[in-house]
Amino acid sequence: MRKPLSTSLITAALVAAGVLLPVGPAAATPTDTLATDTLASATLASAAERSGRYFGAGVQGYKLADPVYTGILDREFAVVTPENEMKLDATEPQQGRFTFGPADRIVDHAVRQGKRVRGHTLLWHPGQPSWLVNLQGAALRQAMLNHVTQVAAYYRGRVFAWDVVNEAFADGTSGARRDSNFQRTGDDWIEAAFRAARAADPGAKLCYNDYNIENWAHAKTQAVHRMVRDFRARGVPIDCVGLQSHFTANHPVPADFATTIRNFAALGVDVQLTELDIEGSGATQAENYRRAVTACLAVSRCTGITVWGIRDSDSWRASGTPLLFDSTGAKKPAYTAVLNALDGGPCP
Ligand code: XIL
Repeated sequence: MRKPLSTSLITAALVAAGVLLPVGPAAATPTDTLATDTLASATLASAAERSGRYFGAGVQGYKLADPVYTGILDREFAVVTPENEMKLDATEPQQGRFTFGPADRIVDHAVRQGKRVRGHTLLWHPGQPSWLVNLQGAALRQAMLNHVTQVAAYYRGRVFAWDVVNEAFADGTSGARRDSNFQRTGDDWIEAAFRAARAADPGAKLCYNDYNIENWAHAKTQAVHRMVRDFRARGVPIDCVGLQSHFTANHPVPADFATTIRNFAALGVDVQLTELDIEGSGATQAENYRRAVTACLAVSRCTGITVWGIRDSDSWRASGTPLLFDSTGAKKPAYTAVLNALDGGPCP
């Protein structure tokens, strides 16, 4: 498919008549209908979409008032994850008293902009309000499930995927569950949470989300994989696994990242990179981003990538400059590497 001759002729005529300035091909693209498969994509969202995937960002509600921040968000990203506003301390600060205002601000913005929302997160061990910390046993289990039910039901139809449970496994070589008040209510707390979430919002994809599960050789990765396999075998409603993907020099993008993604996908779940950020700068950081994105593109069920913030200065670990835009909002080499990798990626 080439640009219709008539468009070229009209453009040439307008240039000749002095109506249009004679400009190069890039500037001429608004009237250009060149085949999209021969053009570089304009944004992360459109590049990812070409391979049937989404590209998203973690968002902090109070930053939506910053026009540079919101300008990049609206232009580049198709999916929004509230960084903190859907966490338990934000949504149920007192037992049974739910506050959705800060999260709604992000969701409303996303919906107005035609973006989708990933819900993060229904249950996580840190950041618990004091009323919850003081509960145990059956009362804690009941309060935990009520929280899942109320929040998932409130956002029914507006959140396409939920991190139902976040970070429930221990680091290190044990492969054990992390100790927490939730865990002390019984090993089945995770599956109970997934069942409650499914009942409250049957349309949402339900994910288990964790960090340090990117390297296939690690005991924690294997332990999460075993849990997901067991859930699938027993009909516990789980649809996806989120690999947070927070990388540093000491915790680099593993050589076997695509293997890990493939092995989770083989269980019949989607996989998403949910909080991608990679500390570093320049060409090295760009190459690491390329490797991470390429690993996702290698697996058809790796359905989307979210970076955990927009500019370096927005990051939860800003000193590591781990994101795709610098503090002024300019695109970094890592941005170009990601865009190029997405453009070169196969369709699922
Ligand atoms: C972080 C937020 O980005 C920070 O703003 C907040 O202070 C702490 O939490 N894993 C997760 C995320 O699942 O929720 C965390 O987000 C980063 C680590």
